[in-house]
Amino acid sequence: MNVRVYETKNSVATHFAAFLEEEIRGREEYHMALSGGSTPRILFEELSKTDRYKIDWGKVYLYWGDERCVPPNDEESNYKMTVDHLLRNVPIPEENIHRIMGENEPSVEALRYGILLERELPSGSGIPVFDMVILGMGEDGHTASIFPHEIHLWDSEQNCEVATHPESGQKRVTITGRLINNSKEVAFLVTGAGKADKVQSILGKSQGYRQYPAALVEPVSGKLSWYLDAEAASALQSLNSD
Ligand code: 6PG
Repeated sequence: MNVRVYETKNSVATHFAAFLEEEIRGREEYHMALSGGSTPRILFEELSKTDRYKIDWGKVYLYWGDERCVPPNDEESNYKMTVDHLLRNVPIPEENIHRIMGENEPSVEALRYGILLERELPSGSGIPVFDMVILGMGEDGHTASIFPHEIHLWDSEQNCEVATHPESGQKRVTITGRLINNSKEVAFLVTGAGKADKVQSILGKSQGYRQYPAALVEPVSGKLSWYLDAEAASALQSLNSD
């Protein structure tokens, strides 16, 4: 596991953007699942600096790891956040963008998107394979939209499931553990002091750490990286080496 700590949210974004630029340069196609949240938003702003990052966006195919069940123009929409902070700034072909349709009935959309991923992504052992899955982590240890109170969704046999936000009750469509752990690479972008205790618990494998969905991200053969700012890493002691 690769843990990188940078001073600020912005330096997390600039380092990860530079990493992505390199990764994409070497590829014919790059199938990447995006996350919502405040850190990805800063990354998207960074990637929008097309004078700085020379990315052939024609090779990039975008998906989402989760979406709120709201219309695409809703302020809550992860897709809208991505349009506002990235998609309207970079020359990515419309046909390369595969959003989760939050306006659809959730269970119908979970099925539709799961089938789309089977169709659009290369397959590895019968499961769609992303080149990269970008994940955030909530203060409760959720990732994508798999929350601790519904941690059983992680082990679903389906590519996508319908989740429920524990406080708001908002329905979400999320990819599941079988896809995340079948990816070639997974990168957590986690910043802010509010995440520090969960980061320590998960990376330090403290007692009960596997109650947090973010702890279940263990790519079978892919690479796992954590990109942290100093605040999110502030509780890290020496990590148990595997
Ligand atoms: C979402 C995200 C979610 C997010 C975490 C962290 O739809 O909200 O997919 O999993 O990554 O809540 O969000 P922050 O980075 O804003 O703390």
